[in-house]
Amino acid sequence: MGLQQKEEYVEMKDVFSIKLKRRRFVGQQKGGLLLGIAIFVCLRKEGNKLKDSVININNLSEDHCNLWFRCLKEILNGFPNRPKSLKVFVNPSSHRKEATHIYYEQVAPLFKLADIRTDVTVTEYEGHALALLKECDLTSFHGVVCVGGDGTASEVAHGLLLRAQMDAGRNCDDILEPARAQIPLGLIPAGSTNILAHTLNGVQHVLTATLHIIMGHLQSVDVCSFSSSSKLLRFGFSSMFGFGSRTLALAEKHRWMPSNQRKDFAVIKTLASLKPEHCELSFLPSVRLQEDVEENRQKQESLKHDSSGQWQRIQGHFLNVSIMAIPCLCSMAPRGLAPNTRLDDGSIALIVVRNTSRPEFVKHLKRYSSVKNQFNFPFIETYIVEEVKVHPRTQKENATNNLNSIDSEQRSYPWNIDGDLLEWASEVHVR
Ligand SMILES: *[C@@H]1O[C@H](CO)[C@@H](O)[C@H](O)[C@H]1NC(C)=O
Ligand SMILES: *[C@@H]1O[C@H](CO)[C@@H](O)[C@H](O)[C@H]1NC(C)=O
Ligand SMILES: *[C@@H]1O[C@H](CO)[C@@H](O)[C@H](O)[C@H]1NC(C)=O
Repeated sequence: MGLQQKEEYVEMKDVFSIKLKRRRFVGQQKGGLLLGIAIFVCLRKEGNKLKDSVININNLSEDHCNLWFRCLKEILNGFPNRPKSLKVFVNPSSHRKEATHIYYEQVAPLFKLADIRTDVTVTEYEGHALALLKECDLTSFHGVVCVGGDGTASEVAHGLLLRAQMDAGRNCDDILEPARAQIPLGLIPAGSTNILAHTLNGVQHVLTATLHIIMGHLQSVDVCSFSSSSKLLRFGFSSMFGFGSRTLALAEKHRWMPSNQRKDFAVIKTLASLKPEHCELSFLPSVRLQEDVEENRQKQESLKHDSSGQWQRIQGHFLNVSIMAIPCLCSMAPRGLAPNTRLDDGSIALIVVRNTSRPEFVKHLKRYSSVKNQFNFPFIETYIVEEVKVHPRTQKENATNNLNSIDSEQRSYPWNIDGDLLEWASEVHVR
């Protein structure tokens, strides 16, 4: 029978677990008739997806099986990046309260199969993960895992980075040379929006995200610091100012509505009273020149020192401004909200929509879901930058002639940072 069989092989680098297989009765914990060994592998499928699979090798000899088991296990233990211990944050209030279910049904069994120890915190309030990350002992963990949507992922990333600054003895406001996070972060998509997990894993898929973590696949990712008057506001991956933050601010005021209804309502209402923001944007263009990221990074380091004074400035009325360090893939924008940047090229995409008519603006927004270039409009400008300063200009600021006006009370502007609302009145510096 075997003669005609196609030969197949599996590479050890794709294996994530080895088990001895025994026949046991229901409830039996130990012993049982040895059947052979089971080899668990991670397979690559189309569309950036990963899948687990098992190869059963039957052999009734205890000696043979134990020998194989020990040898294969030793090889597995030799892979350097595979985590053995993880700190897990599950946000139970994510999308329709599904995150807990997703974690215990789909993720935890695979972690167990891969012999990964876990320390799970089901968060109880917004900011809980951040508070824990600031003080918990991270030395015994090889990574942090976040099960939730963009808000949770962004909070955990922010917490890890704050913690890194504290441990490195850096003043959090002195973010010229921020320290890197000490351990990697894995993102399991389980929220209503999962742009960060989707962009990191190339697909919005729980199994794929879980297997990347188990296999220890590492991907470096750019992150921005948002500060004002040299004070750190937070770390984040993407931000919007204008339409993209006004819709969020409006949606937040209608929390009583179901989340998808709330979003549609906010978009329609904001479109109906569409109005541009008067502001000034200054930015430091990126010196990104070529494909090779490492080489580029070194060049950037050396250029940074003599690139002072090359700031550019634009001002006017802007409907929508995106400042994104990563491409931000989502189902509505398969090429990304910022397809002109990459995960780790050290640069930020600055996309500016100047004032235009409502129909033209809607046409541009609709283009995100198509393969056509959504930026091919005369009122859109795109830049690749290293830093941006957004300085809103209030009407009052210009009317300086009227010295009698006692408008000390400043109007604050909504910012959308990874889906979180931040209200701020003065200039915000993104780097
Ligand atoms: C503008 O707003 C929309 C909707 O909130 C957002 O998806 C988009 O990426 C934003 N940016 C630009 C440059 O249009
Ligand atoms: C923005 O554009 C619209 C449509 O062209 C126009 O009616 C409006 O006055 C403009 N707003 C500003 C502040 O320039
Ligand atoms: C604000 O003042 C500047 C110069 O002082 C002027 O060029 C600009 O048009 C003014 N903007 C508005 C909206 O009045």
